[in-house]
Amino acid sequence: MTSQLIKKIVTGDEIRNAFLKFYSEKLHKIIPSASLIPDDPTVMLTIAGMLPFKPVFLGLKERPSKRATSSQKCIRTNDIENVGVTARHHTFFEMLGNFSFGDYFKREAIQWAWELVTNIYQLSVENIIVSVFHEDGESAKIWRDEIGIHPDRIVKLGEKDNFWSSGKTGPCGPCSELYYDFNPEKGLQNIDLEDGDRFIEFYNLVFMQYNRDSSGKLTDLKFKNIDTGMGLERMAQILQKKKNNYETDLIFPIIQKICEIANIDYFSSDDKNKISLKIIGDHTRAVIHLISDGVAASNLGRGYILRRLIRRMVRHGRLLGITNEFLPHIATVGINLMQNNYPDLKNNNDLILNEIKIEE
Ligand code: GLY
Repeated sequence: MTSQLIKKIVTGDEIRNAFLKFYSEKLHKIIPSASLIPDDPTVMLTIAGMLPFKPVFLGLKERPSKRATSSQKCIRTNDIENVGVTARHHTFFEMLGNFSFGDYFKREAIQWAWELVTNIYQLSVENIIVSVFHEDGESAKIWRDEIGIHPDRIVKLGEKDNFWSSGKTGPCGPCSELYYDFNPEKGLQNIDLEDGDRFIEFYNLVFMQYNRDSSGKLTDLKFKNIDTGMGLERMAQILQKKKNNYETDLIFPIIQKICEIANIDYFSSDDKNKISLKIIGDHTRAVIHLISDGVAASNLGRGYILRRLIRRMVRHGRLLGITNEFLPHIATVGINLMQNNYPDLKNNNDLILNEIKIEE
């Protein structure tokens, strides 16, 4: 029997390309990343891969096709104090997503997610735990009877964890999440998915079927839809076998440049310096994309978010002992790292460096 060697997917680019290829072969239209500045007054920034499709889910805009897939740049600042402190919180991240607009629903979303993570990314069943919304017996049944996952690997959680919405109002629904277990040897008894050292949630399948109004009332959307989100940085951490997202090829080259300027070594640095390095590494990606998408530093709204990120970078640079201007050098590494996937960064190179220089 000839054994076929399947190429291991490891780098951030390989993970992104494999996701988009997998879903385009399942007849999803590849949609380029939208701007970080959303066409949506309810949010300041694009906070999820689904945001550009929100009017489609609400039936306000025609669907671009029945199925879509994207790698969407996103920024969330609600957890900014955790950035650099935990292994996986970020301001800027890329969210891989597959979407159904009134086409397939739970069965295909679960089957394809499983096929992708076990066949394409080649994760072992032993490392995967899934959660389902406690009232969603249908999804639990699909995982158990059709995918064949052992019931001990299916954890039922409440609204806080397994009911997803992009904001206080708007499209929402129960979800099922895939977690990676870094310590399967600890067994399946008393699983606590909140244990961030052991588990990382990496793929969220949202069964988008309701609209929530400002009084909190849920009404059925016209169609049952699928919205999913896989954190590219998280999958990179898993496949590159790193301790945290910051040490992946998506961010680490920026950290290495900061180390070079500060004349320190990342791996022998203490936790305090490591946090500063991670914060600057994270914020660099957010700042270059914000400026490239048209945000200028100011004391208001998005402009203030940008200003705050740059100030935090400068402050952590000082904590690392850097006294000279350094942000344009760091930003240049970030632009070079990401410009293949985001050519706008290259086109806006001078604008980005100028704005950062003035602000620093
Ligand atoms: N829209 C699904 C997620 O952001 O997790």
